[in-house]
Amino acid sequence: MKKWFAVIGNPITHSLSPYMHETWLQENNIDASYIPVHVEKDNLKEAVEALKLLGCSGWNVTVPYKNEIIPFLDEIDISAQGIGAVNTVVKTEDNRFIGYNTDGLGFIQSLGPIYTDHQILFVGAGGAARGIAHALKQSGFTNISFANRTHANAERLVNDIQIGHAISLEDAENRLNAFDIIIQTTPQGMKNQENTLPIKLNNIKEHAIVADIVYNPLVTPFLEEAGKYNVRTVNGLGMLVHQGAIAFSYWNGITPNTDKMMAQLTEQLGGSYVNR
Ligand code: ATR
Repeated sequence: MKKWFAVIGNPITHSLSPYMHETWLQENNIDASYIPVHVEKDNLKEAVEALKLLGCSGWNVTVPYKNEIIPFLDEIDISAQGIGAVNTVVKTEDNRFIGYNTDGLGFIQSLGPIYTDHQILFVGAGGAARGIAHALKQSGFTNISFANRTHANAERLVNDIQIGHAISLEDAENRLNAFDIIIQTTPQGMKNQENTLPIKLNNIKEHAIVADIVYNPLVTPFLEEAGKYNVRTVNGLGMLVHQGAIAFSYWNGITPNTDKMMAQLTEQLGGSYVNR
């Protein structure tokens, strides 16, 4: 039977994953397809059973099912264990279904060369920050601070994942030049969301990396502001592409071309791509 892959979520129509994976399958001469599957709220269990029954070789999981899918899988990889969120399911040769999380590692890869002694600041302490911080911890990073609107949520995150410490947004602004990597993880700056900046950047360190997990728009107000300083900016498209590339390699044993995909998706989203 021809291999097939899927992405499940709700909504799913705007997902860029089908384009990305179909392109990579073709580029690598793999005779398989990748389809988006819209799953209604109460149908997740049945949908997962159907994917298994119909011979799906592996699938991605997106909002709102990254947590809810866990009981329906046979094993949860260490990449997903600490955060309770799965974005990639891999079928083994003996028909077992393993849940991975490739978002955090994908994000780290999208930053380019970074070092474990780098000082990292998260702006926001929600699910996205949790996933990336967990992957950073697994990769040996220890110097992590979380600045959040609600201090108690940042404290809870620190307590849950046992790394870093919680600071106020004001503290982050005042001590900004202590950080080498600043990661914006709040929904601020997304299309149709608030456009105020979560923190002021005037104390930023030269040559810092400023990343935003948002990719629509490609240049968020936060990245636009960062662009006024002598820093390197990274948008959220790299995270999308690299998490997909890791999933692709788990399924197919081949690492696809991420640079070319970045250029293609950037063009689709109306931007111009700069290969750093
Ligand atoms: P997710 O869990 O998917 O990362 P989220 O729950 O919508 O996304 O929010 C993630 C983070 O963005 C949270 O840290 C949230 O702060 P609170 O803990 O105070 O809720 C932060 N956030 C959301 N909207 C914000 C806003 N308008 N200003 C500042 N922070 C905001």
